Amino acid sequence: MAELKYNVEALFIEPMFRADIGAAITQKQIDFIKSLKMVQNQTNLISENLNIFEAPELENISNAIKMILDIYAEKVMGIEQSLYVTQSWALINKPGTGMHAHAHSNAIVSGSLYFTDMPEPSSAMIFDRSTGYRQLRFDPLKDKRNLYNTPVNIVVPKKNEVLLFSSRLTHLVQPNGSNEPRHSIAFNAFIKGTIGDLRDVSLLTV
Ligand SMILES: [Fe+2]
Repeated sequence: MAELKYNVEALFIEPMFRADIGAAITQKQIDFIKSLKMVQNQTNLISENLNIFEAPELENISNAIKMILDIYAEKVMGIEQSLYVTQSWALINKPGTGMHAHAHSNAIVSGSLYFTDMPEPSSAMIFDRSTGYRQLRFDPLKDKRNLYNTPVNIVVPKKNEVLLFSSRLTHLVQPNGSNEPRHSIAFNAFIKGTIGDLRDVSLLTV
């Protein structure tokens, strides 16, 4: 038989948005975030204030995030409705601590912002393709991994970077292997506007 010709095409693909908002981050804002009262989360520390973008001190960062959510809604999601931040909080992973696998309920898009130098060695964010229990696992061979079959994808965040991703995606943060605290901000966003169709009886205004 002659050599078989075949083609593999993407049916769907998962986006992750990265943007540098360093221009919107001032030392004053960094000092403000670092001065927030932190409380124990599960393994890491979380700010007591869970709506930090509403603080007047963080107006610049908050506006930059709004701008990025507008771009994401228009260019990535291709929708006419807008996205707005529902909650926003600061996190500190002390040396040795990371964040267990989780997803963000009651949100459409979630994000994180890294406003300090990232400690070395870097602790990556790991996205998991599966959303829970897998009765059967056929993980691809290491050298055969690609976007179609990889079970996880590893993202190393950089200083001043915002990441946006679908809230339903399972993700975890590797333990901080450095001697410095690893700072970040996380936030959830939801859609605002009208979706669906009146005659389809699927109309919803949120
Ligand atoms: Fe998260």
